[in-house]
Amino acid sequence: MKDLENARQQLAELRQQINFHAHRYYVLDDPQISDGEYDLLFRELLGLEEKFPQLITADSPSRRVGGEILDGFSTVEHQVAMLSLENAFNDQELFDFEERLLRFLNTDLTPGYIAEPKLDGLAVELVYENGLLTVGSTRGNGRTGENITTNLQTIPAIPLRLSGDNIPARLEVRGEVFISLSGFRKLNEQRQSDGENLFANPRNAAAGSLRQLDSRLTAQRPLDFYAYGVSTPLDLPCHTQTQILAFLGRAGFKVNDLLSTCPNMAAVVKHFDFLAEQRPELGYEIDGMVVKVDSLELQARLGHKARSPRWAIACKFPASQATTRLIGIEFQVGRTGAITPVALLDPVNVGGVTVSRATLHNEDEIIRKDLRINDLVLVQRAGDVIPEVVKAISDKRSGKELPIKMPRHCPQCGQELLRNEGEAALRCLNLQCPAQQLRALIHFAGKSGLDVEGFGAKAIAQLFDAGLLKEISDLFSLAHDQLAKLPGWGERSAANAITSLEKSKGPSMARFVTALGIRHVGEVSAQLLEENFGSLTRLENASREELEEIEGIGPRLAASIVDFFNNKQSLKALTKLQDSGLKITVRNNTGADLPLTGKVFLFTGGLVSLSRNEAKARIKSLGGQVASGLNRKVTHVVVGEKPGSKLAKAIDLGLAIISEDDFKVLLEN
Ligand code: IVH
Repeated sequence: MKDLENARQQLAELRQQINFHAHRYYVLDDPQISDGEYDLLFRELLGLEEKFPQLITADSPSRRVGGEILDGFSTVEHQVAMLSLENAFNDQELFDFEERLLRFLNTDLTPGYIAEPKLDGLAVELVYENGLLTVGSTRGNGRTGENITTNLQTIPAIPLRLSGDNIPARLEVRGEVFISLSGFRKLNEQRQSDGENLFANPRNAAAGSLRQLDSRLTAQRPLDFYAYGVSTPLDLPCHTQTQILAFLGRAGFKVNDLLSTCPNMAAVVKHFDFLAEQRPELGYEIDGMVVKVDSLELQARLGHKARSPRWAIACKFPASQATTRLIGIEFQVGRTGAITPVALLDPVNVGGVTVSRATLHNEDEIIRKDLRINDLVLVQRAGDVIPEVVKAISDKRSGKELPIKMPRHCPQCGQELLRNEGEAALRCLNLQCPAQQLRALIHFAGKSGLDVEGFGAKAIAQLFDAGLLKEISDLFSLAHDQLAKLPGWGERSAANAITSLEKSKGPSMARFVTALGIRHVGEVSAQLLEENFGSLTRLENASREELEEIEGIGPRLAASIVDFFNNKQSLKALTKLQDSGLKITVRNNTGADLPLTGKVFLFTGGLVSLSRNEAKARIKSLGGQVASGLNRKVTHVVVGEKPGSKLAKAIDLGLAIISEDDFKVLLEN
């Protein structure tokens, strides 16, 4: 008993000492003791914990060496979506961004910004409950990511327990995991001498290290971390992003110090030039700068669009380029039958990534760029953007270059190709074309569809070739024994595949609608459809007019949705999917319990205290709808300054007519 008490005491002291010195070394970059002395402390801790395993705590620095080996990663739902950022590629686009902000806020006062380096690593979220790191996850698709807690616990720059004051009961910290250039070089040297594959760049090395199932391996990788935000900033005693970063520093995080609080956009542009100048000296990769409106109150007012906040934008550094030879062309048949020419290139390193293929989009693009086979071409890659062929270097031509001919028949099914009026793409209109069917299946199960683990493009192609999958509705009818017999599979992977299929049977409506691959319907419009209809049955029965009334759904989209749900084949597939147990999960925040659910607003005249766009965004976030013209669904007409003819019509129709002040009361209640 005495021993145990002594050990407890000794462990507490050791942990405190180790944490203190680790923070000095990894976060402040200012160690007080030698590496040897630190190792000694660490070994003492490990030795004592081995003797008294019952005394190991969740925040013990021993977590840094990794733990048990996992079978796979579970998923984590982010309580607040992890958004991405829009890009600005030049100064003008930054000023355009500012103009949009001012218009939205209905003001001409510059809001004030913070400019931070855009770290080129991987976004992660760290959940702290009562100051203790309990869950760490990848960004994933923004709503759900992978649970990589044990791997993140090995990163010395990530505190296992927060320090400082005012730590809320739950805090979700976001930031970037990365590997420094020197760490990357050492890691690759080691791999070379061990005969292992080399990582193409630090970002890939960081990604590969975070996805290790054995966290003891992750612990040996030189991973580092900078915090850049929290999911709910208004929970902290801060008014600006600048203060949030200072708070995170006090809580024990590394915060990048190349940030600048800028009174106006001119200062932001200046900081961009400064970062571009510093970039080669930094010792880690940045791919641009992130500009954020500094005031948290304005950030909250500005809110976000489907994928990105209105209050922030990324400015990318110019793309990396390289020259190589165009050695051939491949024609790909897309999910909707569009034929895409793909350039086959002599492999070349572009900004750290080997590029051997690049899309040429369509025939017009080839003509515009006057590309020929055997041309020397300039290839570029901007950040995470897909590589593209910029131009041919025509003065290097030898005369042996060959023109590129577009095919007249589908390279997969042989059907004659057509080009619809007003469209750039040649299309194969054969719905039975195997290439289209395969693409539709890959999309359905893939990342932008149901995201079924273990059913990536390769696996789907194998099942398709084996005749087990013909259409999307076959996916959930796959049986364990069919899979286990396939080459390269086996009992275990078949069992895993069936489990992940089961797990994917409850998608959100938006995800399911995206997965269906309805022409022109992407993630953003699918989200709108979920928000406005809430159930698949209601969407199936929607008329073109009803669809077009939704802001953001135009006539082309509406027609395509109606066509899809009138098509016998699609209906059959939907029924079969439902029969095999697929059931859409209804999110509780889209239910009937939001304050403005069922209310449809129409505006006439100018608003004074906010812009129309802000008003619309607030209505939507409270569950209401906005109409673009007078129709029988409108419940409230908001009358601003100098109203138009809609007012008289609304009075005629006997609709509820409210002032801007009444409207603001509705928003606040
Ligand atoms: S703010 C909603 N700040 O950039 C705000 N992101 O496209 C989004 N990133 O994957 C994040 N450095 O991981 C922010 N200083 C920084 C950043 C940063 C890098 C990454 C982030 C995300 C991507 C956004």
